Amino acid sequence: MSIPKPADGTLRLGSKAPNFSADTSNGPIEFYDYVGDDWVVLFSHPDDFTPVCTTELGAFAKLQPEFEKRGAKLIGLSANSTESHKAWIKDIDEITGSKLTFPIIADPNREIALKYDMIDYQDATNLDDKGVQLTIRSVFIIDPKKTIRLIISYPASTGRNTAEVLRALDSLQLGDKNRITTPINWVPGDDVIVHPSVSNEEAKTLFPKFRIIKPYLRLTPLTVPQNN
Ligand code: BEZ
Repeated sequence: MSIPKPADGTLRLGSKAPNFSADTSNGPIEFYDYVGDDWVVLFSHPDDFTPVCTTELGAFAKLQPEFEKRGAKLIGLSANSTESHKAWIKDIDEITGSKLTFPIIADPNREIALKYDMIDYQDATNLDDKGVQLTIRSVFIIDPKKTIRLIISYPASTGRNTAEVLRALDSLQLGDKNRITTPINWVPGDDVIVHPSVSNEEAKTLFPKFRIIKPYLRLTPLTVPQNN
């Protein structure tokens, strides 16, 4: 059965991430070249030199080694120029003690934000000084095939949780390599759920320590490889 595609070009889980050329704080990029054979976490910000965004970028920068261990690159986006981004990065590092090295996309005309639907349609206060709708706090996890695997959207007023982004990446990568899903509040090391498509017979081989809670809920220990 073929899965219907949204007629309006809306990005959903499973959509191909749109490619784009952009200037960034680290120089010009072609997005697909930047992705290469890695995973990418693309996240947007409303505006440079704003308080919540500053704390978020510092936190992502500090967690960058953990994303790298998982073969994932970070890239931010904010609706300002590269000059503005570069000056802001100095502030971010000073304030949060980070050493931010990943690129921040300059999207002053919101072209990429529009492509990725990172615009706020509900918060009438989320406007820039010209009265234009600012970008929201979107997170896209994109896999090496350039498929969008996860989308999270927060309003401008609510800072994200970097640990949650990393946790979701761990879940996606573990699920790609094993026939499992991850339960509520799962963190690496916790038991995972044997995928419903796996029969009990198969599970005996795949997950020798699996246990049946209910026929539809089977748990098993599974270790997350450190360099997955
Ligand atoms: C902030 O990052 O603090 C922020 C940005 C735009 C609107 C509201 C808050």
